[in-house]
Amino acid sequence: MAAETASPLPSKITSIKTLAESPGLTSIPATHTFTHDLHDQVTSVPEGSIPVIDYSLLISGTPGQRSKIVQELGRACQDWGFFMVINHGVPQKLLSSILDGCKGFFDLAEEEKQEFKGNHVLDPIRSGTSFNVSVEKAFYWRDFLKVFVHPVFYSPTKPTGLSEISLEYSQRVREIARGLLKGISESLGLEGSYIDKALNLELGKQIFIANLYPTCPQPELAMGMPPHSDHGLLTLLIQNGIGGLQIQHKGKWVNVGTHPNSFLVNTGDHLEILSNGRYKSVLHRAMVNSMGTRISIAMAHGPSLDSVVSPAPELLVSSKGNEPAAYIGMKYKDYLELQQSNKLDGKSCLDRVRISAV
Ligand code: OGA
Ligand code: NI
Repeated sequence: MAAETASPLPSKITSIKTLAESPGLTSIPATHTFTHDLHDQVTSVPEGSIPVIDYSLLISGTPGQRSKIVQELGRACQDWGFFMVINHGVPQKLLSSILDGCKGFFDLAEEEKQEFKGNHVLDPIRSGTSFNVSVEKAFYWRDFLKVFVHPVFYSPTKPTGLSEISLEYSQRVREIARGLLKGISESLGLEGSYIDKALNLELGKQIFIANLYPTCPQPELAMGMPPHSDHGLLTLLIQNGIGGLQIQHKGKWVNVGTHPNSFLVNTGDHLEILSNGRYKSVLHRAMVNSMGTRISIAMAHGPSLDSVVSPAPELLVSSKGNEPAAYIGMKYKDYLELQQSNKLDGKSCLDRVRISAV
């Protein structure tokens, strides 16, 4: 879908923010133009049809309330690969502080951000533009900051205060992800601690990804992030009051919209692998707009780097007989490296470990 003729990213452009802020910018350069009419393919779903999970009931509800939420989680993973989490207990103030902290990072001088550029896809701190400019033909209307925050916590040293807020935010979100994964384990008929133990979540990889999508003069020609699935188990996303995330549901793109105070949660490739395809990772993408700059923070939660993930053996035997494993085992570190080194392209990474169509 990228323009075949796009030229390389001009080396002086280190951020889309600088480009977007060029005085009098009324059109976007060919380097950032996509040829498909992306907006044609969007459908609307009835208000309230995206699943909503009340986290407080999962954690402290009565056994009856809890088992209902576990069922809802299972249904959301199966039908959507996506749900919103409410009553999660993270104070609104912390959500706005972390969003402000990320804005502060993107507002640093270009030279300062370059200090955190990173060289390798597995460097713990990387900032840049698009997704992977060394392999892309056209570039996304996006700047990013990607930081490994668990099992070892990293943070850029600027702007002041970001590190402290990020540590607190990362810990809070990680707890919620683990709580959700417990419920998801149970929804698969496994023990609550199954995923936690099998994938060694005590040392689980947690990656903080801040995305900046500046106001764009021709949003219909630009793309914030292309259709992709996330590599891990669960990603929890917040945003600054401006929407842009779309998920694919039953083959159609659906606008998620803005939901202040909720986490927008999507399932990743490793949940698909572990569940032997019962819970598919969801395709999603980010659109841009001409109304305002959007910041989102996606917190990705995966297995520990040295976990070799394959379908849970418990799920390969059922009353109906044996079910063949649909994915080969692969070390999470190798998967992560593969996904991050290539173009962001749908579920192409998962296809490499898929044995049969499921
Ligand atoms: C991501 C992602 C979507 C968004 O960072 O993996 O899908 O809306 N972000 O920013
Ligand atoms: Ni994503």
